[in-house]
Amino acid sequence: MSCSLTNQTVAVLGGSSGIGLAVARGAHRLGARVIIGGRDPQRIAAAARENAGLETATLDITDEAEVAAFFERIGTLDHLVVTAGALLGSSPLGALDFKAAREAFDVKLTGSLLAAKHAAPRLRPGGSIGFTSGMLARKPSPNAVVKTAINAALEAATRQLARELAPVRVYAISPGPVNTPSWRLMDDSSRAAMFEKLGNTLPVGFAATDDDTAAGYLFAMQARALTGAVIDLDSGALVA
Ligand SMILES: NC(=O)c1ccc[n+]([C@@H]2O[C@H](COP(=O)([O-])OP(=O)(O)OC[C@H]3O[C@@H](n4cnc5c(N)ncnc54)[C@H](OP(=O)(O)O)[C@@H]3O)[C@@H](O)[C@H]2O)c1
Repeated sequence: MSCSLTNQTVAVLGGSSGIGLAVARGAHRLGARVIIGGRDPQRIAAAARENAGLETATLDITDEAEVAAFFERIGTLDHLVVTAGALLGSSPLGALDFKAAREAFDVKLTGSLLAAKHAAPRLRPGGSIGFTSGMLARKPSPNAVVKTAINAALEAATRQLARELAPVRVYAISPGPVNTPSWRLMDDSSRAAMFEKLGNTLPVGFAATDDDTAAGYLFAMQARALTGAVIDLDSGALVA
């Protein structure tokens, strides 16, 4: 049976967990060859074990030589998705740990640009680069200045690169809260309570799952007229 991504190659950096892994599963279901990349070999191996058919690579997205080698190995591709992000707790500016903040910028912002740099020459015309921003880019929230700045920078880069890299398409998905392993800095009961409360306050009545969020990337890969856009897939958080 032919599916909508049959004979296409999709690379997902950050694909060993959360939203990235859901994108990888979805693209594979739609017929694509999918390669997931992440830093921790054990998490990559576990993702592959639990999701037959995914190809894997271990790399640090902040290391340009590793990123270049990753795309060199893949060769021509149709779509790149970047969901890699470092763990970063909430903190007021006065107590901000700048070592952790720099790492967060490095992984998500520099990493996205490095991946785009090395993928772009290998992407077919009409293929796509998908970045991941987040609702904090446009919804001020206390104790989140680093995430806000990173996400806003990525949204600006999306519009800029859609011009510079055309006819390759560039888009960003902006999630709201999604219950993924990225919340593991919170203890289980606080996390469960927070997501329950979100269910009562978000306009759709629940916080999106990783699969709900992955649906945005899968749509964008197939939407040949979409570029330069940021898609808010945030359970209505921006308008709440
Ligand atoms: N979950 C949310 O509520 C939410 C809301 C808004 C925006 N977002 C954004 O959505 C994206 C995905 O979040 P998620 O919740 O799916 O996170 P996640 O489950 O923690 O997954 C993050 C992924 O990034 C990879 N990664 C981290 N550092 C890396 C590095 N240096 N090199 C290569 N890979 C690296 C991780 O692999 P390793 O473990 O191997 O490092 C993992 O595969 C992030 O950009 C996040 O900011 C999430």
